Amino acid sequence: MVCADAHSTAPVQDQRTAPSEKRGGSIVLGIDFGTSNSAAALIDANGVMQVVPLDGARAEMPTAVFFNQETHSVLYGSEAMQAYLSGTEGRLLRSLKSLLGSSLMDEHTAVGDHSLRYFDIVVLFFKELKRRCEAHAGHPLTHAMLGRPVHFVDDNPERDALAQATLGRAAMEAGFTHIAYQLEPIAAALDYEQRVAAETVVLVVDIGGGTSDFTTIRLNPARSRQTERKADILATTGVHIGGTDFDRLLDLSTVMPSLGYRHIGRGNRPVPNSVFFDLSTWHLIHQAYTRKAMHFAKELWTDFTDQALHKRLMSALEGQYGHRLLAEVETAKIACSISGQDAAVHMEFLDAGATPMVTAAGMELALQDALAQVVRCAQECVVLSGLEQVDVVYLTGGSSALRPLVAALQAAMPQATLVSGNRFGGVAAGLAYAGAVQQD
Ligand SMILES: Nc1ncnc2c1ncn2[C@@H]1O[C@H](COP(=O)(O)OP(=O)(O)OP(=O)(O)O)[C@@H](O)[C@H]1O
Ligand SMILES: [Mg+2]
Repeated sequence: MVCADAHSTAPVQDQRTAPSEKRGGSIVLGIDFGTSNSAAALIDANGVMQVVPLDGARAEMPTAVFFNQETHSVLYGSEAMQAYLSGTEGRLLRSLKSLLGSSLMDEHTAVGDHSLRYFDIVVLFFKELKRRCEAHAGHPLTHAMLGRPVHFVDDNPERDALAQATLGRAAMEAGFTHIAYQLEPIAAALDYEQRVAAETVVLVVDIGGGTSDFTTIRLNPARSRQTERKADILATTGVHIGGTDFDRLLDLSTVMPSLGYRHIGRGNRPVPNSVFFDLSTWHLIHQAYTRKAMHFAKELWTDFTDQALHKRLMSALEGQYGHRLLAEVETAKIACSISGQDAAVHMEFLDAGATPMVTAAGMELALQDALAQVVRCAQECVVLSGLEQVDVVYLTGGSSALRPLVAALQAAMPQATLVSGNRFGGVAAGLAYAGAVQQD
């Protein structure tokens, strides 16, 4: 995983209409399709920016789809998570964004008694998001400004372009007729620009569930209504590391050892570890439940010297507890990050013996390499901009609150003031501003 600068910082490209074509001021919905959470915002007819309450009163809606096998219904957002976590029979899909650009998008996957392409599931999610936004706005919405990370896929421009095109195709299939794209960290910067009084050079740090994106940008409220801001964007970098990676690393360090990960078994050899990686990666968990994978895991008993570990592994697979375990790890990560205190990973449903804990020290150790890469990418963004340092670092995205990450960033840029932004609605708000400017 490398941190690389963006190939293009072009602010806006429309997929359908030629740039010169005038489209008569339709309201543009800014859509931040996130790995963990999605959000949407628009500038209403009175020119007021509104972050849409997508999930009850909340702006952020978990990017989750649940096919309820008991009622044969499809649930979205927090309802999807709740149904799944309360043990309802069915199939949960999360981290769909991580699949964009991969060949999996066109593959079918079983959802209850039928199968759908992953792409079709993204379309379903977009349809629901559109429906909720239209219910809020009180009228149809056909124009969308879609956020995209600096890199959907690291080091592979073809797959990266494919990921963007797939995102656009899904939005079109969901009923949007005009779409354009903007980089997520630039959108975050455009939102922050509403708060600055004078010209300021800022490093915008957007650390979400799947990616960490950085932009060094010159902000000036006097230029906020200009469509062409290329000259103000000094550098953009990004790396494919985010909160779901932190969850995976913490799952591997706290929970998976009680299922046999790193267990030194027969012949003094560690047991094969692919099943533990699948089980701790949001978008790969399902692979661990296929008949072939289950058979392989079952046969592993001969590799284990401690059969209690293998029994627990099989209970996790047979009960399909992967998402539940990872959600518990995520909850403990957030609790430990907020309080700085030890947080328990509740996995009593698996008869885990001792309760694993996420501790501040354990988190620092498990995440140190990943956090170092994120910080390096931030520093590289400043270097690429030709500056020695920045005065302000603007933090957005859910994982930007991660305590050891904030500490590492501050240590790397001791002279900078860290400013916390709207962690969940900021990118969508910035996309709405970008969309409104485009329509002017
Ligand atoms: N207080 C917190 N401390 C640490 N991490 C947190 C906190 N609150 C939320 N997170 C993490 O933030 C992540 C979600 O952030 P966000 O909603 O910004 O991501 P996203 O926009 O879906 O992802 P991306 O932008 O990478 O596609 C999750 O991994 C979640 O665990
Ligand atoms: Mg995001």
